[in-house]
Amino acid sequence: MKKQLTILAIESSCDETAAAVLSGSRYMLHDTGHSFKILSNCVSSQVQVHAKYGGVVPEVAARLHIEKILPMIQLALKQAKKKIAEIDYIAVTAGPGLMSSLMIGTETAKTLALALNKQLIRINHIEGHLLSITEQLEFPAVGLVVSGGHTQIILVKDYLKYKLIGETRDDAAGEAFDKVAKILGLGYPGGPAISVAAAKVESVKSIPGIEIKLPRPMLDKVGFEMSFSGLKTSVLYKWNELVKILSPENLDKARNLMAYEFQKAVVEVLVAKTAAAALKFKAKTIVLGGGVSANKWLRSEMLRVISEKLPDVNVLMPEMKMAGDNAAMIAQAAYFHVLKKDFIEPTKLKPDPGWELVS
Ligand code: KG4
Ligand code: ZN
Repeated sequence: MKKQLTILAIESSCDETAAAVLSGSRYMLHDTGHSFKILSNCVSSQVQVHAKYGGVVPEVAARLHIEKILPMIQLALKQAKKKIAEIDYIAVTAGPGLMSSLMIGTETAKTLALALNKQLIRINHIEGHLLSITEQLEFPAVGLVVSGGHTQIILVKDYLKYKLIGETRDDAAGEAFDKVAKILGLGYPGGPAISVAAAKVESVKSIPGIEIKLPRPMLDKVGFEMSFSGLKTSVLYKWNELVKILSPENLDKARNLMAYEFQKAVVEVLVAKTAAAALKFKAKTIVLGGGVSANKWLRSEMLRVISEKLPDVNVLMPEMKMAGDNAAMIAQAAYFHVLKKDFIEPTKLKPDPGWELVS
C-alpha cells in the first residue's frame, strides 16, 4: 500500500459549494496530527445571491450547488495537480445543514465513489469546523464552534472523541449577528457588516443623552449554556425607540454604537463560557471554528482573556479562509477517519440535516 493517501473532500451544507484535496501520510507522524497537507481549497460562495433576500433561500442554494459542484471539484483537482484517478478517498459533509444543499454534495460524492470505486467517508460539518486547525492541537481541548447554525462548546478528548458540554438554547451566535444586522439595516451576512460598523465607533463610545447598554445573557449562570435570542430582542426594542427620537446623523452614530455593544456582548459571553469550560476540563488547547470565529474582536478578546486567566492554555484559531465553510476542513476531519477506517458503503450514504456530533 502507498505511504501517502489523497482525499477529495466536498462541502455543500449551506450556501458555499466547496471542494478540496488533501495529501497525507498513512501513519500519523506525531501526535499533533499534522501529517498532512492541503493541496487545494476551492470555495464558490453564494452569499451575494442570498444577500438580495436577506438570508439563505434553500431552493436557490440547492440550484447553485448543482451548477457549481463539478466545476469546484475540477478546480480543486487542477490546483492540487491531481487526476481524479489519483484520489484514494472521497469525503463529504453529510450534516448538519440544509437538506436540499446536503443532498447535492452527498449524491455527487456517492456517484464518484461508486463510479470510480473509491472508499467514501461521511463527515459531520461541526467536526470539520472543530478540526479546521489541528496544528499544535493537544488534548484535552475545548472547542468553540460558532457559526450561522450552531454555537457549541465541545470537549475534544482525543481525535474523534467529542462531548458536547454546552450550546445555545435558541439562536446561534452567527444567526444573532445576521438578525441584528437586519434590524439595524446593515445588510447580509450580518457578521462582517456588524464588525465593520462596530469598528467605526473607535474612540466615540457615546452620544450625549443616549445610553446603549445591552445584557450579557447567561453570563452569571453556572454552566455552559448560552442564549442569544433575548439579546437580539433587546436590540430591536432599543433600536425602535432610537429611530423615533434621533436625528439622521445621530441615528447613524447610534447604529454603529449598537453594533459595537452587540458584538461586545456576544463576545463577552462566548469568551467567558469557553474560558470556564477550559478551566473545568483542564484543557491544554482552546480551538475556535465556524464563520463567527473570523470575528476580530472575538479573536483578540479570546487571546487576551485566556492569556490572562489561563496562561498555559494554547488558543488555536483557523486562518480566515478556514473559518467559514470550506472543504479543506472536511478533508482534515476525513484524514483522521481514514486512519480509523471509518468508511461508509456508498449506497448507504444519506444526508442527515440534524446530525449531532457525538463520539
Ligand atoms: O460557518 P459558517 O460559514 O456557516 C455555517 O455553518 O453556518 O458561518 C456563517 C456565519 C454567518 O452567520 C455570518 O454572519 C457569520 O458566520 N460571520 C461572522 C463574521 N463573518 C461571518 N460573524 C461575526 N463576525 C464576523 N466577522
Ligand atoms: Zn459552518
